[in-house]
Amino acid sequence: MTTPTVPVIAPAAVPVIVIGSVNVDLVAVGGRMPRPGETVSMERFAEVQGGKGGNQASAAAALGAHVHFVGAVGSDHWGTAARDDLSARGIDVSGLATVEGATGVAIILVDDSGENSIAIVPGANAAVSPAAVEAALAAIEAEDAVVVACLEIPLESVQAAARAAERRGWRFVLNPAPAPSGGLPAELVAAASVITPNETEVEVLGGVSVLLVAGAGAVVVTRGGDGTDLHLRGTEVARLDASRASVVDTTGAGDAFTAALAVGLANGRELVDAVRWASAAGAIATEGFGARGSLATAAQVEERLTQN
Ligand code: RIB
Repeated sequence: MTTPTVPVIAPAAVPVIVIGSVNVDLVAVGGRMPRPGETVSMERFAEVQGGKGGNQASAAAALGAHVHFVGAVGSDHWGTAARDDLSARGIDVSGLATVEGATGVAIILVDDSGENSIAIVPGANAAVSPAAVEAALAAIEAEDAVVVACLEIPLESVQAAARAAERRGWRFVLNPAPAPSGGLPAELVAAASVITPNETEVEVLGGVSVLLVAGAGAVVVTRGGDGTDLHLRGTEVARLDASRASVVDTTGAGDAFTAALAVGLANGRELVDAVRWASAAGAIATEGFGARGSLATAAQVEERLTQN
């Protein structure tokens, strides 16, 4: 008698759903930052894909995650190029709307040290409505998911995403960038499993303890070359050293960090381990030019971690 074969069903990968912005980045590189009122000459110019949401989705896809993107581009040629770029990375763009008008634009200066200064004009990102976010999330069939949102789209749409994630029992990672000077609604903070500000953003938001008291599951503060701090309520801060990096351009490093953290959680890593993984991905992202110029694969992250 032959033994019946039992079909092996692989567990479905937990998807990462990114809700956020798409920009075309117009970048001037090389030299020093101008002071207010001053004109400086920089070395070169480039037009590249950007927007914190698009960068986060791209970084998660590079790490091998199954990624859905929810956002909006304009009806101009930049919108078409942005959509094509995200699609070519294997990202599901069925939640990406095209709205009449201009795609978001970021004007970026990158100085000789790789540090950047960014001004954005939201364009189509301002048209990402709560209803559109709810509809896009409702269309995703997933038992479990990790939802990531940044603040380059309207705050009420981010809140809609947080509520939808909460209803479905999905984890919610909030990248509070750019940080609103009036702080974050308490309900949004409480819905976040993890919040990932940089040092400037956490200060604008009133400090780590304000976020923890409001109910954030964890606050992970990225401090560039000085490492990362993991704060949980009732425990001592865990300080993680920065991964080694040969910095070319820091643009998008925070996006790569947040994306890798979400991918780590989606893959079942413990939070501290996911933070370590994210630090390596963030470091690698600084080593190429442009927000998506040096996105790490999972193998590159593992290799970097062995070098630290
Ligand atoms: O985080 C980097 C991003 O911020 C850039 O790609 C730019 O578009 C702005 O959104």
